Amino acid sequence: MTNKYMYFIANWKMFGGLNSLNSLHKVMKFFKTFNKNKLIKIIYCPPSTLIRPMSKKLKKSNIEVGAQNCHQQSSYGAFTGSVNSAMLKNVGARYVIIGHSENRQSGETNKLINLKIKSALKAGLKVIFCIGETSIEKRKKITKQVLVKQVKLGLHKIKYNKNLVIAYEPVWSIGTGMIPKSKELFETIDFVKKKIKNCKVLYGGSVSPKNINELKLIKNIDGYLIGGASQDPKKFIDIIKKTYS
Ligand code: PGA
Repeated sequence: MTNKYMYFIANWKMFGGLNSLNSLHKVMKFFKTFNKNKLIKIIYCPPSTLIRPMSKKLKKSNIEVGAQNCHQQSSYGAFTGSVNSAMLKNVGARYVIIGHSENRQSGETNKLINLKIKSALKAGLKVIFCIGETSIEKRKKITKQVLVKQVKLGLHKIKYNKNLVIAYEPVWSIGTGMIPKSKELFETIDFVKKKIKNCKVLYGGSVSPKNINELKLIKNIDGYLIGGASQDPKKFIDIIKKTYS
């Protein structure tokens, strides 16, 4: 059993309506008894529309709520369709995912990500900062260079602090069922930890009840960012249970 703080972050992406909140009961019930004597953080990142009702529902539990992205400007402004970090905090978010590859793919640059991280920290949100290489970059064997660039530019003029966690998510492993080889994953996480002193690094990409027994043996991982499997409470609970079994 692991004896360090572990994060289990549910990334619901663009899935879920009000009725999806019913699935939280199972997880709340489970966590109430399971988290005794364990250092676990469970954070749900639903679509923005569900942040308020979800945080109300989870109020009496130790489960926290986060958002999946934010605008880079911390004050109000004429940006149709956007939501800033202060607004997310106002409705109950305590965390925000920034730099997810699905947003990088639709044009989010390292520079923009840097501005978003700064504004989120300024608003008092904790940041889950995603980095990761594409399959082409992996094939070219430039993963380390890619990660260094993402970290350097993403955290430009930001001192690493306890309000930041890194999520290493190889783009090729997201939603594909593929995960990196254990040795490779250990080395990559170790590499990131050496670049950013004292940082927590999570792994994300196809985490499931099927591969968690393999992943949990990689001792430098501080938790998981879970997409698909987090929408099913049974699978999500299973992942947490197996991590500690
Ligand atoms: P996945 O997504 O678990 O469905 O691969 C992870 C993520 O995108 O954060």
